[in-house]
Amino acid sequence: MEVIIAANANDAGVVVADLIERLLHDKPTAAIGLATGSSPLVVYAELIRRCAAGQLSFSEATAFILDEYLGLTTDHAATYREFLRRELTGRIDLEPERLLGPDTAAEDPRDACAAYEQRIASQGIDLQLLGVGTDGHIGFNEPTSSLSSRTRVKTLTRQTRTDNARFFDSLAQVPHHVVTQGIGTILDARRLVLIACGPSKAEAVARATEGPVSAMFPASALQLHERATIVIDEEAAALLQLADYHRDVYANRPEWQRRG
Ligand code: GLP
Repeated sequence: MEVIIAANANDAGVVVADLIERLLHDKPTAAIGLATGSSPLVVYAELIRRCAAGQLSFSEATAFILDEYLGLTTDHAATYREFLRRELTGRIDLEPERLLGPDTAAEDPRDACAAYEQRIASQGIDLQLLGVGTDGHIGFNEPTSSLSSRTRVKTLTRQTRTDNARFFDSLAQVPHHVVTQGIGTILDARRLVLIACGPSKAEAVARATEGPVSAMFPASALQLHERATIVIDEEAAALLQLADYHRDVYANRPEWQRRG
C-alpha cells in the first residue's frame, strides 16, 4: 500500500484533492465513491474551493454513496445523501441526479441493495474515498464482515452507534440498521484512497496497514487491493513502525509517480 504522511489534516485534504483532480482531468466522466464522517471534510472543502476557482469540474462525473442509514426519513439531516449534498455535491457542479445511492425507501431493502450493487458494477468506481471507524470499519462493514461481502444490510455495533451519535440529538435516535457497499464491492473500485487524521486514528491506521488482514479489522482488506493509498497526518502516523520508510518513499518518488 502507498502511505502518504502529510504534515496536518489540511495538507492531507490537499493531497487527496490532487488525486481526484488528476482523475477528473484524465477522465471527466469518472465515477467517484464518496464517504461521510468528519475525515473527508478537508477533502470536500478543497474540492469546493477548486471548483469555485474553475480549476476542476464534476459536470460529467458520477458519485456513488458508500453507505447509508436505514429507517430515517429521506429529508432527515443525518442521512448520508443529505450530508454529502450539504458538504460537497450541492456546492460543486455535479448534476444532482448523478449522486447515486441505495433506495432506502424500498419496501424490501435487500432489493435496493441488489439494485445498487448492480448499478455500481455496470459502471465501476474509478476512485473510492474511504474513512475508517475506530473499530476498523470501512463504509459500515463492521468487524467480522466477510472480506468478499457485497452491498447489503448491516447492523451497527454499539461502538459505531456511540461514535456517530454526535450527528443525532441522542444515541437512541441512531439507527441500528444501515446499507453499505460490501468489502468485496469496495475492493472492486479501480483505486482506493483512505484518509485518516488525528491521534484517535493512529491505532486504526497501524492495524489497517501493518496488522494482519482480518475480517476482525475490515480496513486491513485494503492490503488486498493493488492500488490503495492511505493519506494520513503526522498524528495518525504515530504508531506506524514504517513511518520513516513511507516518508522516504514519498520524498524520493520518481517524476512519473508524482504525476499519477
Ligand atoms: C461512519 C461512516 C464511515 C466513516 C466513519 C469514520 O461510520 N460510515 O464511512 O469512515 O464514520 O468517521 P470519521 O471520519 O468521522 O471518524
